[in-house]
Amino acid sequence: MSQKSLETILENAHPVMPVLVVDALKDALPLAQTLAQCGITVLEITLRTECALKAIGQIKNTFPELIVGAGTYTKSDQMAAIIDTGADFVVSPGIHPNLLKLAQQHGLPILPGVMTPSDILLAIEHDLNILKLFPAQNAGGINYLKDLQAPFPTIAFCPTGGINSKNYLDYVELDNVICVGGSWVAPASWIRGQRWSKIAKEANLLIK
Ligand code: 3PG
Repeated sequence: MSQKSLETILENAHPVMPVLVVDALKDALPLAQTLAQCGITVLEITLRTECALKAIGQIKNTFPELIVGAGTYTKSDQMAAIIDTGADFVVSPGIHPNLLKLAQQHGLPILPGVMTPSDILLAIEHDLNILKLFPAQNAGGINYLKDLQAPFPTIAFCPTGGINSKNYLDYVELDNVICVGGSWVAPASWIRGQRWSKIAKEANLLIK
């Protein structure tokens, strides 16, 4: 796949990018297939489990049209393995210059997490204008995003953390929100339990 910009990726993800924890490799493909059949085109697989890198690799090999982010990118030494998976972008819970520079050197779009105006300034210094607000709900939620709009009119956010079926529409209607991230569409317990029809039902409820 030719590389897509982060803006294109997250516009495709709208309204929600599922944030996924895959504990067992055998669950990766049925999960991806279930979500793809429901019209989900962008996913984040968190690098929090032993099989996460292999899960990304399998999904990219089997469903090359799916855009897959490697989440929980927290250390520079993860980068080589991430590149090997064919991941399309990386997501971090926070922001660190080394992580940004390394991703940029590899030409890999990065969605770093920010929580404060100072974090946002660091991102701007690295020419980034699309950021993950994390943890969104606890950082101040909708009102916090509204407050950020005046000083940072050019920044778009993907709020993540505490977003669910009841509040995601309030987030996505904000002018400075490009999409949201969240685990509610496919929580880890449903994936572990191979509850594919439950996941499909939740994904099909999403209002595009
Ligand atoms: C995460 O990194 O786990 C995401 O922030 C998901 O948060 P959520 O489980 O509150 O959606």
